Amino acid sequence: MRNVLIKGGTVVNADCQRRADVLCVDGLIAAVGDASQWDLPAHTEVVDAGGLYVMPGGIDPHTHMNFPFMGTTTVDDFYSGTAAALAGGTTTIIDFVIPNPQQPLMEAYQQWRGWAEKAAADYSFHVAITWWDESVRKDMGQLVQQEGVNSFKHFMAYKNAIMCDDETLMNSFRRCLELGAMPTVHAENGEMVYLLQQEMLKQGITGPEAHPLSRPPEVEGEAANRAITVASIMGVPIYVVHVSCRESAEAIARARGRGQRVYGEVLAGHLVVDDSVYRHPDFAFAAAHVMSPPFRDKSHQAALWHGLQSGQLHTTATDHCTFCASQKAAGLDNFTKIPNGCGGVEERMAVLWDAGVNSGRLTPSEFVAITSANTARLFNIYPRKGVVTPGADADLVLWDPQGSKVLSAATHHSRNDFNIFEGRVVTGVPAYTLSQGVVVWADGELRAREGAGRYIKRPAFGPDFSAAAVWERHRAPQAVQR
Ligand code: URP
Ligand code: ZN
Ligand code: ZN
Ligand code: ZN
Repeated sequence: MRNVLIKGGTVVNADCQRRADVLCVDGLIAAVGDASQWDLPAHTEVVDAGGLYVMPGGIDPHTHMNFPFMGTTTVDDFYSGTAAALAGGTTTIIDFVIPNPQQPLMEAYQQWRGWAEKAAADYSFHVAITWWDESVRKDMGQLVQQEGVNSFKHFMAYKNAIMCDDETLMNSFRRCLELGAMPTVHAENGEMVYLLQQEMLKQGITGPEAHPLSRPPEVEGEAANRAITVASIMGVPIYVVHVSCRESAEAIARARGRGQRVYGEVLAGHLVVDDSVYRHPDFAFAAAHVMSPPFRDKSHQAALWHGLQSGQLHTTATDHCTFCASQKAAGLDNFTKIPNGCGGVEERMAVLWDAGVNSGRLTPSEFVAITSANTARLFNIYPRKGVVTPGADADLVLWDPQGSKVLSAATHHSRNDFNIFEGRVVTGVPAYTLSQGVVVWADGELRAREGAGRYIKRPAFGPDFSAAAVWERHRAPQAVQR
């Protein structure tokens, strides 16, 4: 029996905010309201939430723990990565199963499920489509119908590795529509990136400063437009991961303006870190920021904030994918060999509060929308996750809007030796995190338990999921009677 009463806080959901106590019993929220009216179960631990906001635990829809990528494997596994998440107020991650081309999907899925057993927080998986044949089509069905996978990821970048061509996009999006699963894309034109990389190397620009030059915003905008077009032809909704620039944000807004169901995700890093990091004289510092899409100039950051504020962009994530300096050094003489990825799973909530709520860009309810509720809705785990309401999982963060801290690799819980937010002072920090009704973070003390996290199945979407219009015309072609 695990009973916790959270007393005297202000409950914040995406749609409302009110003074209320919250009772958690056996991992679920049992009641929200006035505790003086309740008969409390015996052995109820009381947490004083005076002055704190009681919010749904964060959901990070984009992480890569234990990820074998670019010849090495991320330093954070599912334990260290989810423990860091809990320390930052994030109680659920959606990670990625990424099969090697030609690897059976189910085999890769079982591999990742095995790695994830040590997770300290709840987790779920998107599955990447990195190649296509009839077995892939069939395995997608099994993943949706039996394994609770309702989203498939498509990398439009990483040529000669995991990149999808347009034919695979078409086949996979059509299958997603049949199954009621959300197609998602990493939108960068991998052919253009490849050519620009060769161009940089030919010109003798081999350091990390070449990374953003080989991946300009235009290659992201092109790919976002193309993926959105494929989705429109197929009549399926689409979710664009890590939107980093004006070009792709505008592609999403334009399509939404035409009535298309398109969603966009923004990384905390892209909102506050700019591209000057790649011109730093120290290789290790610049290389530590090599991720794709790259950090952009400040004008793009403004476009991303405006997208979140206007509701044209919907979720926030981190793309937590950690490589330490010795791994990044693989690209000392050739920037294309620097493993791509940065951390942030612990910092996302605090960075968004500080740069979003404290600056007046977001209300606390809007903060909840973009850190948990919208993700729970888009990936079909609402209201189990993403809302403080009776019956929901007791995954909560008790937020101290006055608390302050300095973000640093010296104090973070990730195994990474670098922090892209190093030295940033944030006001607004998690005082307590509860996962499944258990206090796992309390005033600086982490009580993460290896293996306590559960695999979260996400049911397929119903028939109302499809956007139908264009695809319907193609699905039932009519011969002209002559
Ligand atoms: O650079 C990144 N983002 N690494 C992880 C893989 C991906 O593209 O999401
Ligand atoms: Zn990506
Ligand atoms: Zn502005
Ligand atoms: Zn990623």
